[in-house]
Amino acid sequence: MTNSEFEHVVDTTDEWIVQRTGIRQRYIAGEDETTASLGEAAARKALASAGLDPSDIDLIVLATSTPNNTFPATAVEIQNRLGMHHGAAFDMQAVCSGFIYALTTADLYIRGGVAQRVLVIGAETFSRLLDWEDRTTCVLFGDGAGAVVLEAAEGVGLTSDTGILAAKLRSDGCHKTKLYVDGGPSTTKTVGHLRMQGREVFKHAVGMITDVIEDSFAIAGIKPDDIDWFVPHQANRRIIEASAKKLGIAEEKVVITVDRHGNTSAASVPLALSVAVEDGRIKKGDLILLEAMGGGFTWGAILLRW
Ligand code: ACO
Repeated sequence: MTNSEFEHVVDTTDEWIVQRTGIRQRYIAGEDETTASLGEAAARKALASAGLDPSDIDLIVLATSTPNNTFPATAVEIQNRLGMHHGAAFDMQAVCSGFIYALTTADLYIRGGVAQRVLVIGAETFSRLLDWEDRTTCVLFGDGAGAVVLEAAEGVGLTSDTGILAAKLRSDGCHKTKLYVDGGPSTTKTVGHLRMQGREVFKHAVGMITDVIEDSFAIAGIKPDDIDWFVPHQANRRIIEASAKKLGIAEEKVVITVDRHGNTSAASVPLALSVAVEDGRIKKGDLILLEAMGGGFTWGAILLRW
């Protein structure tokens, strides 16, 4: 759905949306599509690219805030769609930071010896949570899914190892009302709609993102100059560019897909990763910085070697 199509839905313009956010279009799930179907499609692509079958996977972690049902976990539905009847699957809810939380969790399951190969998926149908009469939010979000496979391998404890080198997660619930959904099973007994104080979110975003990235650089003993690609959460081009500038990361190392996907919440980082892998920018051995921030607030960063 392009920005121009929104001009018929709410009082907005392509120019306003592009100038304030960098978004030019977003994808909206079809009536027959759900978070589970999008997640399944991404999972199948990730498995194919890893040369693996569902039978090789022993854990599925799905990051989503838009599950098919309140329960069971949509991860279990994806497990069934993949024909998997072994292993375990669960959902992880940290809104836009969901993929960073899920990847960190998967890494810890591997390090703890509980899993050997983990399918980590970020999948969302945010279009179903939007108030389509609220121009301050409905133009910002989109639907999508992305996935990766993590596999256990021995490392030597150096930054030359492949896989996750450092992760840092944060949350602070005092910011709840700045970005939330005004419904839920235990309160209104409804699904609710997304509500956001956009300017308030913007005000906190760059500081929180850069703090947690600096923490992850310190944990790994890595400098901003060392990274090959910065793959940030795709919410707003201005937040991404201001964060990269504050950290001293060169413009040409920043992967930006917010123009084509909008903000797809937990799907945004794996979608951006997928674009940069498919167009040949990200190559085996590259050092990659991921970050996200979202409702809660939750935020986090990961340094990994591809
Ligand atoms: N079209 C036209 N005008 C609009 C629209 C729209 N879609 N939306 C708001 N406006 C108007 C407002 O009503 C306001 O008008 P007024 O001055 O007459 O009152 C004017 O534009 C300015 O509104 P602001 O909210 O101050 O605009 P701002 O420059 O802050 O941009 C935005 C809004 C894009 C939401 C920005 O605050 C933002 O990006 N915030 C971060 C939110 C975000 O990215 N959230 C995603 C989840 S969190 C995360 O992922 C980091």
